[in-house]
Amino acid sequence: MSHPKTPQTKHDIHPLILDRWSARSFSEKSISEETMEGLFEAASWSASSMNEQPWEYIYAEKGTDAFHKMVECLMDGNQPWAKNGSHMLLSLAKRKFEYKGRENRHHMHDVGAANTTLLMQAAQNDIYGHMMGGFHMDKTLEAFGIDPAEHEIACFIVLGYLDAPEKLGAPFHEREIAPRDRKPVSAFTKKLS
Ligand SMILES: Cc1cc2nc3c(=O)[nH]c(=O)nc-3n(C[C@H](O)[C@H](O)[C@H](O)COP(=O)(O)O)c2cc1C
Repeated sequence: MSHPKTPQTKHDIHPLILDRWSARSFSEKSISEETMEGLFEAASWSASSMNEQPWEYIYAEKGTDAFHKMVECLMDGNQPWAKNGSHMLLSLAKRKFEYKGRENRHHMHDVGAANTTLLMQAAQNDIYGHMMGGFHMDKTLEAFGIDPAEHEIACFIVLGYLDAPEKLGAPFHEREIAPRDRKPVSAFTKKLS
């Protein structure tokens, strides 16, 4: 499953974690509904506060009006490549617990975890995705009838099978082949005594 975007790491990190990356070059091949259901099932095994499972996904397949409508909600920098994906997902976080309708301050935390779990499973199926925070908020809320008092939009996610990086124009082609990088562990950890 290892590919050119799989990073070299100092420690022995599980391939499940390393294989996911944010792709932009997607092939014509469409993801089956069965496979999509498997990705959502994987997402559902994320942990969540009180096991509330505050994630919800609205999704559409390429070629449908809904897919087109989702693409149109994206910012200009995302549209040229995201429109080639097989499926577009809108990731929503339910703001309140079922129990007494109390505010769930962990809603976005838990939805982020579910999204990453979905994408890790996707990579195991040779499906790559790209989370996108670059979208028009008001347009998206209106287009999909989302009540912001009930749901917070986490991001869009495009999913698809990979195609050659050369299919992308500048500046996306360079980004598709650039090595992935991360801060060193020491930059974001502090051991106390
Ligand atoms: C919440 C979120 C929003 C993002 N929004 C965008 C976006 O609008 N456009 C884009 O090209 N990439 C976007 N990204 C992708 C990040 O740039 C990418 O995850 C990061 O550079 C690390 O690369 P990797 O995912 O390949 O490891 C987003 C990622 C996340 C998690």
